Formats: sequence, C-alpha cells, structure tokens
Amino acid sequence: MMGALDKNAVVAVIGSGAMGAGIAQVAAQAGHAVKLFDTQREALDKAVDGIAGAWNKLVAKGRMSSEDAGAARERLHAVASLRELADAALVIEAIVEDLEAKRALFAQLEHIVGEDAILATNTSSLSVTAIGARLQHPGRLAGMHFFNPVPLMALVEVVSGLATTGATAQTVHDTAASWGKTPVHARSTPGFIVNRLARPFYAEGLRLLNEGAADPATIDAVLRDGGGFRMGPFELMDLIGHDVNHAVTKSVFDAYYGDPRFTPSVLQRELVDAGYLGRKTGRGFYDYADNAVPPHA
Ligand code: NAI
Repeated sequence: MMGALDKNAVVAVIGSGAMGAGIAQVAAQAGHAVKLFDTQREALDKAVDGIAGAWNKLVAKGRMSSEDAGAARERLHAVASLRELADAALVIEAIVEDLEAKRALFAQLEHIVGEDAILATNTSSLSVTAIGARLQHPGRLAGMHFFNPVPLMALVEVVSGLATTGATAQTVHDTAASWGKTPVHARSTPGFIVNRLARPFYAEGLRLLNEGAADPATIDAVLRDGGGFRMGPFELMDLIGHDVNHAVTKSVFDAYYGDPRFTPSVLQRELVDAGYLGRKTGRGFYDYADNAVPPHA
C-alpha cells in the first residue's frame, strides 16, 4: 500500500493522554473516523472533552466552521475495548513510554486488526526495531513521532526499524503530509533526530548552571533573544516535564552504552525526585504559581 491513507479509512489511537488526544484531534480534523482507546475511562472522557473544547475554541476564533467542528465530533469515537479496533487501517500507539508495555499491546493488536493494517508508535526514544521485533509481521510497524502540542507542531518523524518496509514508512509519511504535517524519514537510532540533537542543548545548559556561569533566566534569555531559539533550555525542559526529559536522556545514554556525552543530570534527577516536574506541577526551574505564566511572558 503506497500513498496517504484514504479519508474513509478508520484510524485508531491508543492512549488518550496529552499526545493521543492531540493525534486523535488531528486525524479526525483530517476527515478520518477515529477510534480512541485508553485503559483509564477518566483519561478517555477527559480527552474527548478536551478535543471538543479545542474545536469550540477554533470555531469561536473563526478558524473552523461550526459544521466542520460538528462533523469532526461525529467522527470521533471513544471505545471501551481493543476489540472495537478491528476495522482500523492505521493504529497509532501513544501509551506509556515502556518497551514491554508497547510490545504487549502490539502483540494483542496483531490478533485484532486486519493483515493490511499499519501499526505506528509515537515513542519518543525507544527502538522501533525492538518494539516490532516480536510481531508476526514486523514490516508493518513504523514510528510516527508527533511533537507536543500535536495540533500546533508540524514536524512528524517517520521512523523505520530494521524490519519496517519501505511501503509502510511511505504510507505513514504520506498520511502525515495529508494531515497537514511536515514528515521526515529517519532510521531508528536512539532519540531519532530531534531528541538526539536536543540532548546536548539541555546537557550544556545544565552544565553551565552547575558551573555557576549564569542563572536559568539569563541563559534562557541569551538563547531566546540572542540565539534566535524559540525557547531556552530551562523553559523548554519545564514545558516538556523533567520526568519525561530525564527519562529520554537516560534512554539515549543507555542505548549508547553509557557514552559520557549523554550522561543524565543529577540536578534534573533532583527536580524529578522532588516532584518539581515543570509547568505541569507548577514548579520546575521556574515557579508557575501565578496561573502558570511563563517567566518572560
Ligand atoms: P500520558 O501519560 O499523557 O498518556 C498516556 C496514556 O496512555 C494514559 O492516559 C494511560 O492511561 C494510557 N495507557 C497506558 N498504558 C496503556 C495501555 N496498555 N493501553 C491503553 N492505554 C494505556 O503520556 P503522553 O505524554 O501522551 O505520551 C505518550 C507517548 O508519546 C509516550 O510514548 C511518550 O514518550 C510519547 N511522546 C510524548 C511527548 C510529550 O511531549 N509528552 C512527545 C512525543 C512523544
């Protein structure tokens, strides 16, 4: 199968957290019937409410017609069981970042979906080769790595593991493009392109701080206002969440057999241990107590 998925094709999204909800929103807006599943009923309800709320906002801003919003809402279905995903042509997994959890899910899915269905993982840093290794048909699995927040971020990394077929990667690529995204092909290497290149950005910022060169606000301001970056390393880590960011660094470090270039930061681990995860908990390098207003807003 080559080219983008037909608009009549059903897209399944598994995991309705920050990423799954965004992916479901984008796929439904693109015209697909979307089936969204999560093991937590509350997460599913929250996601559906959040997506409907996002469409209402787009309508209020005049960026979506109320007819289109209504039609998209009708295409979005929360489902209570994996069995209901049998007619999906593309399944996008956005569950917890854990290799065994992802492997177990895809093993189950292979018994449910049709032979032609494409399986995609939104993993940030795990090996696509390893996720697919135990599948009966590993050629049909690819990475489809969206960025947060999904409706706003154009980039999608289309990641091929060793067994991924060219046809699978091309269909995922063309489908992402048909959804208005900017896909790029990448081979499965630790952290792929973005999360690999971003490691030294965070690591050097953290080293500068450790060495007392300047405080986070100064370093961020230099990168943002002088370097042309949209955000400096500390405000960006606060946005991503220190738990997620630290886990990705650990995963890249382990995958390169402990290469010291990727050594995780003890300072960041302290933030994780303290529960100072960034904006989502109201405190990270910055304090967001006042309605989560970023420090430079
Ligand atoms: P999240 O924690 O917001 O959501 C994960 C959801 O998956 C939860 O609602 C949970 O109930 C559900 N879940 C867990 N195990 C499940 C299972 N076996 N079956 C069905 N549902 C299950 O996580 P988030 O941030 O949405 O991340 C999801 C994936 O996307 C991870 O692999 C993460 O590494 C990746 N990712 C995250 C980004 C981010 O900035 N947060 C960016 C790009 C990728």
